[in-house]
Amino acid sequence: MINNIIFDFDSTIINAEGVDLILKASFEKLSNPERTHLLTQLNILTEKATCGEMPLGEAIRQRFDLTRIIKDDVVKAAENMLDHVNPFVKETIQHLRDAGKQIFVFSTSFEEIVRPVTDALLIAWDHVFTNQLIYDFNGQVIGFNEKNPLFLSVGKGFLAEQMKNDGRLPGRTAVVGDGATDLALRKSNIAQIFIFYAGSKVYKDIRQQADFTIDRFDQLLPLVFSEEEYPRELAHSISKVREKTTSSPKVLLLENIHKNAVKKFKEHKYPVKNLNNSPDEKELIETAQNYQILGIRSRTRISASTLTNLPDLWVIGAFCIGINQIDLDAAANSGVPVFNAPYSNTRSVAELVVGETIMLMRRIIEKNAAVHEGRWLKSAEGCNEIRGKTIGIVGYGHIGSQVSVLFEQLGMSVLFHDIVDKLPLGNAKSAQHLYDLLGKSDLVTLHVPDTPETRGMIGARELMAMKKGAILINSSRGKVVVVEALRQAIDSGHISGAAIDVFPEEPGRPDEIFQSVLQGANNVILTPHIGGSTQEAQENIADYVSQKIINFAKSGSTLGALNFPEMDLARMPKTHRILHIHKNVPGVLAKINSVFARRNINVESQILQTKDQIGYLIVDVDDHISDHVIELMQHITETIKIRKIE
Ligand code: NAI
Repeated sequence: MINNIIFDFDSTIINAEGVDLILKASFEKLSNPERTHLLTQLNILTEKATCGEMPLGEAIRQRFDLTRIIKDDVVKAAENMLDHVNPFVKETIQHLRDAGKQIFVFSTSFEEIVRPVTDALLIAWDHVFTNQLIYDFNGQVIGFNEKNPLFLSVGKGFLAEQMKNDGRLPGRTAVVGDGATDLALRKSNIAQIFIFYAGSKVYKDIRQQADFTIDRFDQLLPLVFSEEEYPRELAHSISKVREKTTSSPKVLLLENIHKNAVKKFKEHKYPVKNLNNSPDEKELIETAQNYQILGIRSRTRISASTLTNLPDLWVIGAFCIGINQIDLDAAANSGVPVFNAPYSNTRSVAELVVGETIMLMRRIIEKNAAVHEGRWLKSAEGCNEIRGKTIGIVGYGHIGSQVSVLFEQLGMSVLFHDIVDKLPLGNAKSAQHLYDLLGKSDLVTLHVPDTPETRGMIGARELMAMKKGAILINSSRGKVVVVEALRQAIDSGHISGAAIDVFPEEPGRPDEIFQSVLQGANNVILTPHIGGSTQEAQENIADYVSQKIINFAKSGSTLGALNFPEMDLARMPKTHRILHIHKNVPGVLAKINSVFARRNINVESQILQTKDQIGYLIVDVDDHISDHVIELMQHITETIKIRKIE
């Protein structure tokens, strides 16, 4: 339980620095260029003072040295002070007072401008501490009361310690502010919690060291009230935690995702909205508000700003293979795991390679075209069986190894090359060097990812290293083959045919005209990146991705997530689960566990893993988790997202 709350004044109770308001009032008399110059100087000094980079008294002195200040300037600033009070300050202070909390204001600015505000907030003057200005008999400011402890960087700590010693700060104390002097109270343990107010200017270094962060004043209430003190109706008005944690997640599916996904979500009683289109960012932000689950395919772009504007989103399912359309780091930093279906269309690609190989080896493309035109090209010249020939597979991963199995069954010898040591399937043999494979294969098929090493890996030299009359198939990624060199090799007859499904530049929209140097080449099959596009693959994708999403929704499992630590924790009976996603900085677990300890909640099991910028914690506790506990954890400075699963 918190008994006393010490508020910083500047950029906390008010939305500006009091000293700056006085100076700005005095700058009014100056010409425009002079005022602009002085305002820049003022901002630099204020920043140094707030971050603790310059002794506080020195920073006040240097700011007042910028210009001559008279009493009228101070009075003018004081007149407008109430306009600067931050939203919800008045109501919050009223609630704290009603609950019997002691309220104090420690301000490093001056009595003249602090008092109109604290009087309006009904804070007793003996609970307000400020600096004092000294004027000469003409009303010009000539100095400060340098004996006042608040004139020193350590002044707030000094003052609080005195108050603690003489019994004016009984029990536990919270400090609310945004500066180094506020943080110092927490560090010296005069205050037991430091709540960073991020509603004005945010100094990241200070914020990182805070126990909790709020950006609206009333969010302070759950942090200083105990569960019993916290009125229910307030909990509802301040936070949407209840809605976020207890209702079934709502699912928005875009781009005509296979009906299996819809079915699966409905089986779990999740409300589903299934749309065919791919909205632009603005429309997406509007449409996806209040949805927790978003399913997309390759055409919907998810940027950092989309994610910032969808605060209720839990998870994204990419019902496709590629994930270039999603800013994965931004999603992780927003606490949103992304799942895709990387291997659901492996078989579809492998089967297409089989079909194309036979088509090319039998020169079906030109024969088919001729018959359509009324010509009868009945000839066996250049036409071969695939049995007994050698296939060279570059990249022996999911697709490459399936291709290996299928072609061996068709009677071909299989050679493969991979940068990673791979176990050969069946009678396949590994070629240590790419060139060994190229020189021995009648058909070379590419199944590598797009990496700096694979870009341009098949160019003029590699094509010339292939057997004369060999065939090339690329259904991996467009930039792996230098298409200009391939065209030359085909035109010269060195390469007898090719099937190309992927291109260095591919149209972004179906109505965009596609152009390639390969168009019109002899015995060449060109397909529009459809290697994996089958109904079966769509079904597999729908089943796989929706199941991953449901696992995450129901238990927090992130196995298979692209941008998250991969975790799964078996649930003990009669436990309650919290998922906590936070910034990956030291000390967060201690803060979370201190919330549990303060509420006497026993942790049954927990796992924490980190990946890059984020940490992910799954905790099972033995007791029902109240919204109040969730709120406390939500305001832990490093919290990105929190969800409870009952
Ligand atoms: P995978 O990741 O399972 O296998 C790729 C293999 O390539 C790995 O074994 C890896 O070690 C190897 N590799 C990486 N760099 C290499 C290098 N420089 N030299 C030799 N081997 C190298 O990937 P998967 O699922 O087999 O997919 C292969 C490719 O097919 C990917 O580029 C993928 O984007 C593409 N793809 C295309 C589709 C289409 O519609 N055309 C559909 C599905 C996948």
